[in-house]
Amino acid sequence: MKRILFRIVLILSFLFFPLFGMFVEQVDASVLKGGRGKVKEKNIKLPSPKTIGRMSLEEAIVKRHSVRSFSKKELSLDEISQLLWATYGQRDVDSVTGASKTVPSAGALYPMEIYLVSPNGVFHYFPSNHSLKEISDKDLRSSLSRAALRQEAIAQAAVDFVITCVYDKICWKYGERGMRYAHIEAGHIAQNIHLQAVCLGLGSAPIGAFDDTAVQKTLYLPKDNIPLYIIPVGHPR
Ligand SMILES: Cc1cc2nc3c(=O)[nH]c(=O)nc-3n(C[C@H](O)[C@H](O)[C@H](O)COP(=O)(O)O)c2cc1C
Repeated sequence: MKRILFRIVLILSFLFFPLFGMFVEQVDASVLKGGRGKVKEKNIKLPSPKTIGRMSLEEAIVKRHSVRSFSKKELSLDEISQLLWATYGQRDVDSVTGASKTVPSAGALYPMEIYLVSPNGVFHYFPSNHSLKEISDKDLRSSLSRAALRQEAIAQAAVDFVITCVYDKICWKYGERGMRYAHIEAGHIAQNIHLQAVCLGLGSAPIGAFDDTAVQKTLYLPKDNIPLYIIPVGHPR
């Protein structure tokens, strides 16, 4: 009797093992696809930024103000490229200090990572070759707005810039004071975005009120990328 039972169990396990295997495979695949919308990675080389413009600095300063209401008009790739360059782009490297970006950075350590949230997805900015890497193909502007006390400007804007800091990249040298330096640097970055936006005929607003963890989760950010600022940019309504 025991032998017959053993044979039945053996036959059944052979029959159902492949089905069980399929189930495990499907679960794995759905986990991979689920989070980021797609597994495939896209890199986008941005057009070269302009280093000469029509508006004077004084005019840009006097015109800058927080804009929180935007039209539905999208930004061109040239405009996005220009804004990203102003945010954290490369300039000629100083051979003595190693300084290389459009903003000052304590010790030229550049601890920031910049993300772009657009109708076409979420992208990580790579200043060294002025390119974007897609990390999601979903429009997450409304989700990002929900992570920021439902501030409508974030959902309405053509794009949102998210300035994050990897504190280890600066605190290894300056200890706790590195955090202060990082926050000051975020201010430099934000002001560059605001002034560049004015020069392009666009509007922007600095947003500091949000739930850090919710922003990280919404945008699939690495745990050590701490969001400091969200800057919605678009055509003013
Ligand atoms: C650190 C910081 C955080 C801010 N956070 C928000 C915010 O969460 N939401 C918002 O609508 N404006 C925010 N602002 C914008 C201020 O409300 C705005 O700059 C101020 O009212 C002055 O207006 P102006 O920018 O038009 O000159 C923030 C500004 C700073 C400097």
